[in-house]
Amino acid sequence: MEEQILLVYGSPRRGGNTHLLLDRLAATFEHAGMRVDRLYCADLRVRPCVGCGGCAETGECVIRDDDMPAVYRAVDRAGALVVGSPVYFLGPPAPLKAVIDRFQCHWARVNLLNRRPQRRRAGALLATAGSPSHSVFTCLHRIVDAWFEVLGIEGVANLFLENVDERGRVADDLRAETDLPAVAHRILERLTA
Ligand SMILES: Cc1cc2nc3c(=O)[nH]c(=O)nc-3n(C[C@H](O)[C@H](O)[C@H](O)COP(=O)(O)O)c2cc1C
Repeated sequence: MEEQILLVYGSPRRGGNTHLLLDRLAATFEHAGMRVDRLYCADLRVRPCVGCGGCAETGECVIRDDDMPAVYRAVDRAGALVVGSPVYFLGPPAPLKAVIDRFQCHWARVNLLNRRPQRRRAGALLATAGSPSHSVFTCLHRIVDAWFEVLGIEGVANLFLENVDERGRVADDLRAETDLPAVAHRILERLTA
């Protein structure tokens, strides 16, 4: 089966910094002949996890009347996953966090039902923040890493750009130009290994 790369757009801001980074990465992947799938978290109808514990028995979420079944399928299909997210109050924006929380059923599979992910996949996080401090990414990074862990995804590359606030500011940021190809390379080398 042809491997496909899933790009998770965490920001609600269209044309914003993380969207631009993901779009650039998508162009690189497509140029390399890879199939790219995109998930715009803010456009999805995702009910928040209610902590009912239903998934502890079955490994499946009891909520089925929203867009999450399609999200689970997209994540299952992906050979690699790249998350793009701004820092919102140190963590991810609410739409992305809602998606992540609904993977509690995968946490239950791994930790309660002893059903580990069958393959080891590659992942990356692209994040931007307005603050000039690099430590602003710590919480977001840990949250995304915790998600990757239950999915059996190994974080193979990150790009964290601080001091980036206005929409589209990354377009003329040299760090994006110099460091983004390395992220693409790490993902592609894992997919073609
Ligand atoms: C609701 C909200 C919360 C934010 N919280 C933080 C924060 O805690 N720390 C920070 O450095 N920047 C914060 N920012 C700024 C964004 O992280 C920054 O503008 C980022 O580049 C936006 O990326 P985007 O264009 O992809 O949405 C916040 C912005 C918004 C709208």
